[in-house]
Amino acid sequence: MQQEYKSKSYSHVFKIILILIAVLGLGVAVRAMVMPKTFGEFGHYRGSAIEDEMNRPIRNGTNASCLVCHPYIRQMHLEGVHNTVSCEFCHGPMADHVKDGKVIADLPMKQGEEIKKLCLRCHNQIIRARPKESIKMISMPQHLEEKHVRIDHNCNQCHNVHAPLMWVNQAKAIVGAGGDSK
Ligand code: HEC
Ligand code: HEC
Ligand code: HEC
Ligand code: HEC
Repeated sequence: MQQEYKSKSYSHVFKIILILIAVLGLGVAVRAMVMPKTFGEFGHYRGSAIEDEMNRPIRNGTNASCLVCHPYIRQMHLEGVHNTVSCEFCHGPMADHVKDGKVIADLPMKQGEEIKKLCLRCHNQIIRARPKESIKMISMPQHLEEKHVRIDHNCNQCHNVHAPLMWVNQAKAIVGAGGDSK
């Protein structure tokens, strides 16, 4: 004859159910406590994040906003091959310089070796990932060896930083070697 092992007591099952309900309740309470008020207003994120971003002070300007006050640079930069390069990449953000239309501090200008580093951030041959068709690359010190100058020559001794081919083309014109681009 088969033996019956079925117990008539269910108290252990009730205990487990009670514990599960308590954990669930705790979860709901903690969620209500820590969840940001605007969560879910527009979707699965904090709704007020949009407002926070909108109220963040603007730190950057455009090249046009710099050129209003720097007419001397204006002509050179716009006519040169660097016309697509942002002033702020080389000089830092507008907000450190101008506030409410007034100059509050000078923007830094790179000097000496810093200039070389700055130029090579975009023009170094070693940056393999950059397509050659988009930006012309050079390798150092070969670039200076080709020009037969000492390798401690700085980039801005031959290239105007704001219009890098300006002096090069002027020199070419003098020796009659042409030079069509600016
Ligand atoms: C409201 C006018 C104004 C605007 C806009 C402005 N500048 Fe200036 N900037 C000045 C004045 C004035 C000076 C100080 C005079 C000087 O040294 O030529 C100056 C100085 C500088 C200097 C230092 C020059 C030096 O000889 O020390 C740099 C670099 C410069 N500005 C770059 C910029 C850039 C980049 C921008 C745009 C992000 C910009 N400026 C926007 C008015 C302005
Ligand atoms: C590729 C980097 C680069 C870019 C882009 C650039 N600058 Fe400069 N700028 C420099 C460096 C480096 C110097 C200082 C050394 C020099 O003049 O040779 C300088 C000097 C200056 C000076 C002070 C000297 C002078 O010639 O009057 C001003 C003002 C200035 N820049 C404004 C601007 C403005 C405005 C723009 C955007 C239209 C701009 N720069 C774009 C690198 C740059
Ligand atoms: C933010 C990136 C950036 C920086 C920094 C930069 N350049 Fe350029 N440069 C460019 C772009 C973009 C062009 C236009 C595309 C081209 O002709 O390679 C250019 C063009 C040039 C050219 C003309 C290439 C040709 O024959 O058409 C020279 C020369 C040059 N830059 C020199 C310099 C020097 C010197 C510096 C440092 C003062 C410098 N660049 C800093 C982006 C940069
Ligand atoms: C002795 C002067 C001299 C110095 C210093 C110099 N260059 Fe040049 N560079 C030239 C001349 C001239 C050209 C024009 C291209 C040619 O005819 O070889 C040129 C061309 C370039 C080009 C375009 C290359 C191409 O493939 O068309 C870039 C980019 C460049 N230089 C960046 C730099 C950088 C960055 C520095 C500083 C590390 C620098 N140059 C220093 C004279 C110089």
